[in-house]
Amino acid sequence: MTQGVTVPVSLGERSYDIEIRPGLLETLGARLKSLGVKGKVGVVTDRHVARHYAKALLGMLRNLDLDAVPIVLAPGEQSKTLKSVEHILDILARHRFERTSLLLALGGGVIGDLTGFAASIYQRGIPFIQIPTTLVAQVDSSVGGKTGVDHRLGKNLIGTFYQPRAVWIDPLTLRTLPTREWVAGLAEVIKYGIIGDAKFFAYLQRHMPALRKRNPEVVVTVVKRSCEIKAQVVAEDERESDRRRILNYGHTIGHALEALGGYRSLIHGEAVGIGLVLEADLARHQGYCDLRTVDRIRSLVCAAGLSDRTTSRSVEKVWSAMQHDKKVSQGKVVGVWPESIGRVRIAPIERGTFEEWYPTVLAGMKSRSRRAAR
Ligand SMILES: NC(=O)c1ccc[n+]([C@@H]2O[C@H](COP(=O)([O-])OP(=O)(O)OC[C@H]3O[C@@H](n4cnc5c(N)ncnc54)[C@H](O)[C@@H]3O)[C@@H](O)[C@H]2O)c1
Ligand SMILES: [Zn+2]
Repeated sequence: MTQGVTVPVSLGERSYDIEIRPGLLETLGARLKSLGVKGKVGVVTDRHVARHYAKALLGMLRNLDLDAVPIVLAPGEQSKTLKSVEHILDILARHRFERTSLLLALGGGVIGDLTGFAASIYQRGIPFIQIPTTLVAQVDSSVGGKTGVDHRLGKNLIGTFYQPRAVWIDPLTLRTLPTREWVAGLAEVIKYGIIGDAKFFAYLQRHMPALRKRNPEVVVTVVKRSCEIKAQVVAEDERESDRRRILNYGHTIGHALEALGGYRSLIHGEAVGIGLVLEADLARHQGYCDLRTVDRIRSLVCAAGLSDRTTSRSVEKVWSAMQHDKKVSQGKVVGVWPESIGRVRIAPIERGTFEEWYPTVLAGMKSRSRRAAR
């Protein structure tokens, strides 16, 4: 079996380790014991994840005399609300969780963001551990300490920065992930190659067929390198004043398309996949990179099984949805633009530039469809 690896996240007294180990879930009870965990442990999860993993886990914790309290939510983004947080807090209060009691976030990004937020406000903060079970969560959302919930006026509008005590990743949990979720997660992985590591990008080009098949060794390599890049960026800028913004590459247009689709027609990673290609092309339009860079990004996104085609024909709607992004500062849309594979720059974009460029995307799609039909 593939060996485990550890990736440190250096944040002074808030530092922690990300451990990536196939089979980790089976040794979780012993791990908690060795950390000296006693008493109450809340296991927050959703129904899909619970079906696969919760029973064994709860049994294991109880065998070790830990007072395990399951908190099972409905799956999906609709659960990322203040109401769910209230539900979690109710259970913690009813079971008399204390300052030292522990929460485990067992699930995807929704569970991780919710649990982290609840942990950050219950009794002004109790410890929690991330046990991510989707690719998005293993390479992205479980690392870095952003927690929160959605508001009806905006996604992730309410939240805190609150670091977990540890991130425990068992790549074997990815075997049960639906294909659509798996492929969506690949968009975030490709993003890391573009923003920070040309060699990793080349590795992904070579290994994409194996990655699509979830080859265990390739999966561990990819999760590890992604976590390293995210951990490094977060260590340099924990609260996103500057450098951490590079993690938003693909997300300016991606978020806009995701929102325009009502968060249903495109899931997050699918929208980011399109965003990676479109933002690279917009970078080219602004003279930041060459066509070859755009083509390499487009090819890898398509090889991952993601789409490179925008889902909106309306320049105004896309631009206006881009304004609603949290990352807009003082009315300016600030984008992340590739200069080459592995290097990006952060710069604002004017409405006029966007309006001049977007029709060329629509025209390009039309001519490609016509060629394909011939
Ligand atoms: N905090 C951050 O820095 C950060 C970064 C990226 C994304 N996010 C957030 O993460 C969320 C998206 O996360 P996600 O893509 O993991 O979505 P998710 O948590 O909704 O999980 C996707 C689906 O997969 C199911 N699932 C999870 N693990 C499974 C497994 N091992 N086997 C079978 N099914 C499984 C879930 O039940 C759900 O239906 C969004 O809310 C986004 O805002 C946060
Ligand atoms: Zn993302």
